[in-house]
Amino acid sequence: MNRALLIHAYGGADAVSIDRIDLPTAAAGEVVVRVRAAGVNGLDWKIRDGSLQSVFPLPLPATLGIELAGEVTEIGAGVTRFTVGDRVLGALGAIGAYADHVAIDADKLAPIPDSLDDTIAAAIPVAALTAWQALFEAGELKRGQTVLIHGAAGGVGSFAVQLARRAGARVVATARGIHAAYLRELGADEVIDYRTTPFWEVARNVDLVLDLVGGPALTGSWPIVAEQGRIVSTAAPEIATQTPTGKRGVWFQMRTDAAKLAEIAREVAQGNLRAEVSEIVDLSQAADAIERNKTGHGRGKTVVKFQ
Ligand SMILES: NC(=O)c1ccc[n+]([C@@H]2O[C@H](COP(=O)([O-])OP(=O)(O)OC[C@H]3O[C@@H](n4cnc5c(N)ncnc54)[C@H](OP(=O)(O)O)[C@@H]3O)[C@@H](O)[C@H]2O)c1
Repeated sequence: MNRALLIHAYGGADAVSIDRIDLPTAAAGEVVVRVRAAGVNGLDWKIRDGSLQSVFPLPLPATLGIELAGEVTEIGAGVTRFTVGDRVLGALGAIGAYADHVAIDADKLAPIPDSLDDTIAAAIPVAALTAWQALFEAGELKRGQTVLIHGAAGGVGSFAVQLARRAGARVVATARGIHAAYLRELGADEVIDYRTTPFWEVARNVDLVLDLVGGPALTGSWPIVAEQGRIVSTAAPEIATQTPTGKRGVWFQMRTDAAKLAEIAREVAQGNLRAEVSEIVDLSQAADAIERNKTGHGRGKTVVKFQ
């Protein structure tokens, strides 16, 4: 049996169905993973809605989901890093993670440390790699600099706050006020409730804005960026074409990185980093969870658990 969360046509929550699809086999360089848990991401509903059709054309039907944790059940030719039974986590760099069995390039996977639960492991790949790459690769954040993180309480933001603080940056976070104590625990020096306080009246001379929200969070940030600073956005692709003259705006897209993922998973297992899972749902509730992600109000990650 291979259940999969599919779309047959673009649309809203009711465009998503659970169907049976063929069991995958492992091509050269791939393994098949028995999926135990898969993280919910904004890309799930952006693909479902069809809003990314022009940049991400898909043959339909298509299985949603971009990250997973589970157990290796089959090894393709040439794969030496894993054996059957190994527990692994990874970002696909494509779609298709919401299924009982998924074939994936072994190079994209990292081992799950023994002490780490599958649901926690599934919350790590996309959020943690995005946070790390956006801060330190695209953002070139350095010790002593100030970073403003919009959407700090969410999946990516929760990792970004911790990683930036650990790197010696001063961390200013925007979120709803109810997340303030949580964000301070993670390492935020200052939390701005975006619903009551215009952030541009509080934050000044920011070296890096990490925009995980888009819209007014992005447009309101240009005046507060330091002269040599920049905005890195994971949420607003238009930053690539609409950056004001004299400013630096970077559109960011995560790439898979198994070595960095393995390192971060070990750190979560050791308790040096926290992977926040606020909600665990089963496959029958996944379509609703994807729709809830679209409303954009939550803390940490939602994870779909496979039985
Ligand atoms: N380009 C890439 O490679 C890439 C990779 C990963 C994610 N993304 C995108 O990056 C974005 C963030 O991802 P995520 O997984 O962290 O999403 P998420 O878990 O849904 O978090 C978004 C957070 O933003 C907060 N928020 C909503 N409106 C806000 C506002 N006006 N100001 C400040 N905070 C606000 C929400 O909670 P509260 O309102 O309760 O504070 C929520 O915690 C999504 O658009 C996602 O699709 C892109």
